[in-house]
Amino acid sequence: MSKVTVIGAGNVGATCANVLAHKDLVKEIVLLDLVGDLARGKALDTWQQAPIDYYSTQITGTDNYADTANSDIVVITAGIPRKPGMSRDDLISTNAKIVSSVTKSIMQHSANPIIIVVSNPLDVMTYAAHEASGLDRSRVFGMAGILDTARYRAFLATALDVSPKDIQALLLGGHGDTMVPLPRYTTVAGIPVTDMIDDATLDAIVERTKAGGGELVKLMGTSAWYAPGAAAAQMVEAIVRDEKRIFPCCTLLQGEYGQDKVYLGVPVKLGKNGIEQLIQVKLNKEEQALLDDSSMHVRAVMEVYDSMN
Ligand code: NAI
Ligand code: 2OP
Repeated sequence: MSKVTVIGAGNVGATCANVLAHKDLVKEIVLLDLVGDLARGKALDTWQQAPIDYYSTQITGTDNYADTANSDIVVITAGIPRKPGMSRDDLISTNAKIVSSVTKSIMQHSANPIIIVVSNPLDVMTYAAHEASGLDRSRVFGMAGILDTARYRAFLATALDVSPKDIQALLLGGHGDTMVPLPRYTTVAGIPVTDMIDDATLDAIVERTKAGGGELVKLMGTSAWYAPGAAAAQMVEAIVRDEKRIFPCCTLLQGEYGQDKVYLGVPVKLGKNGIEQLIQVKLNKEEQALLDDSSMHVRAVMEVYDSMN
């Protein structure tokens, strides 16, 4: 695989492109934004970082979709981020139009790309891109679970005073306050987390994780970008290297987890063909109820999207 396009040269898109360039994985990155000079400037800045940080990936900026031709992977970050007081769902009317039109433009120039959606509200924007692309569900999916589990893992690492590298965790559901971190599937170097932390602290971490995006919006006046950009780049890496890594990603469920025709985060195997396997873990009653609730929430926002069309 040799060409990756990142749509949106704002905070998340530019970070994703920069992190990806540092991985020195692909021949070419195209950074596209409505504001062409922003994309050209950030791409040039990243290219000028190459002699310092030692990578060969070429990066160019543009506002012309012809430059995205024959992309193997496209990351969509175009759209507005939330401001303090807004939920991710408040972004739907603006971002749905952007994500649909961006996807159609991508498809005019690339026959069979893999599309990773980042724009919010994430689960419904994955729906919008999937519909607009006409691609198989294995080739259009969303980034949220890697970010949400990273937040959960970082909070646990702080509480336990251990390296975040040693925390493995799973989280399901929509990218919103109803997301479902799973302590039963969380380990510290293989040790169940519940053996290492008391219930009250763990519950507080789960709640902080669910509100993790909002915590950053309050601090910065806009949403996060370092961890989100890196998370999207990690998905690109898994695909380009055909790593078969297992990450929670947002995908169309077709009966799995008792859910049909809804876009939700679940663990999947990522390789050169995109989603190569959807993994179904066993949930207890309480976990399934939380997932059902998250699904109901996403469905309600999907209905808002449907009513817009
Ligand atoms: P930003 O405002 O910094 O950048 C967005 C960029 O999109 C701007 O440069 C804008 O010019 C561009 N844009 C808007 N319409 C466009 C179009 N039609 N074609 C091409 N470019 C267009 O916003 P930021 O912080 O980069 O966030 C981007 C999106 O990602 C937001 O919707 C945000 O909520 C979402 N997000 C999602 C996360 C996730 O976990 N899935 C995490 C963080 C952000
Ligand atoms: C986040 O969780 C806003 O979705 C974005 O940071």
